[in-house]
Amino acid sequence: MHRLAIFASGTGSNAKKIIEYFKDNAHIEIALVVSNKKDAGVLPMAQSHDVPQLVINRSQFYDTQSILDELKTQQIDFIILAGFLWLIPNYLVNAYGGRMVNIHPALLPKYGGKGMYGMHVHRAVKAAGDKESGMTIHWVNQQYDEGATIFQARCEINEQDTAEDIAKKVLQLEHKHFAPVVEKILLN
Ligand code: GRF
Repeated sequence: MHRLAIFASGTGSNAKKIIEYFKDNAHIEIALVVSNKKDAGVLPMAQSHDVPQLVINRSQFYDTQSILDELKTQQIDFIILAGFLWLIPNYLVNAYGGRMVNIHPALLPKYGGKGMYGMHVHRAVKAAGDKESGMTIHWVNQQYDEGATIFQARCEINEQDTAEDIAKKVLQLEHKHFAPVVEKILLN
């Protein structure tokens, strides 16, 4: 059985889709949700699906390795970053090298890096007049959004689309593809 942790800072709509997708899976279990925000929507959502939750603070995350101990205790063998906004410290990247993925709401390498999250991304795409956008699932390394790409999906942008419209199209792609891509990685 693979035991997965999802790290999320916000609403957790991707986390929700992933939890629902793997609900009755015989090989993959979402065993933990980790958040850096105690009022993040992802926490009550996880609670309602009976997934244990852990809230971490900045000094604990960057100055200690207690999260790593916790992940080991809980026998977590794969980490999904789904809207987790803190840079992952080296000790965690090293411990979960090749076993940690992130989702980004654009076609990397475009519109990635520090500060490029949420609506910032979609506004930049709109301002550039791009004719398409999409989502990227990639391995996590020490730099924001720079690990090797695993999967991308694209959507068209029409001239009349607002940044909010683009955000909706991209989120739909994320919800559709994230869990199946993780499943494929784990079961291949
Ligand atoms: C997603 O757009 C994801 O690409 C980005 O953060 C957002 C998380 O949204 N990394 P949600 O919390 O899953 O609704």
